[in-house]
Amino acid sequence: MSIDRDRLKRAAADRAVEFVESGMVLGLGTGSTAGFVIERLAARIAGGLRIVAIPTSEHTAELACRLGIPLTSFAEHRHIDLAIDGADEVERTRLDLIKGRGGALLREKIVAAASRRFIVVVDDEKLVDRLGEHTPIPVEVARFGWQATAAALERLGAEPVLRQSDGLPFVTDGGNLILDCRFAPIEDAQQTERLINMTVGVVENGLFAGRSSAVIVASESGIRIMTRQS
Ligand code: A5P
Repeated sequence: MSIDRDRLKRAAADRAVEFVESGMVLGLGTGSTAGFVIERLAARIAGGLRIVAIPTSEHTAELACRLGIPLTSFAEHRHIDLAIDGADEVERTRLDLIKGRGGALLREKIVAAASRRFIVVVDDEKLVDRLGEHTPIPVEVARFGWQATAAALERLGAEPVLRQSDGLPFVTDGGNLILDCRFAPIEDAQQTERLINMTVGVVENGLFAGRSSAVIVASESGIRIMTRQS
């Protein structure tokens, strides 16, 4: 029997939005699960919830605007109370993440880093024993010299592939390129995250080590909230 992943993603998203309280500054993630968060949030705002939100992509900003969610920016707010976002892989003990399949990893990491709490919403298919089991690590790189940056990443053990969209290089909201870098399954996410970012030409990478406050996992048997202590 096929499992309706969107139904699970929506269930995780709805549970996460229960943590939102009036007066909060929120970080809004990017991707299909974050889209369900935005829809649920819009429904609560229509019911009287008062929040402002910083979006992690132009796409999320457009969706939030369309659904009547008031947006703000880091010019007005240096800190975020709560960010809610999806992920591509979640390491099940330390809750480290791979993010960025949607190409928004740079803004997503800036928002996560500025947030007091960072709640991740996934369906159970995203849980892995070691990051990199299924998903390459997206690495955002400057356009200039991207081939040299790719060669340097190869020396770290990666197999970088330039992300394409409609036959052209995919360009991020920041005007950069993405190299999807397949590594052997990651032993030490923090160390790998740091090593990739030390490479000249790299703007940011999609490993999020030690950032999740909680991960809300939806499966056929219900919702589970995982924290790093559990
Ligand atoms: C966007 O850049 C990504 O980090 C997404 O959060 C991630 O790809 C999860 O997306 P879905 O919720 O669509 O699976």
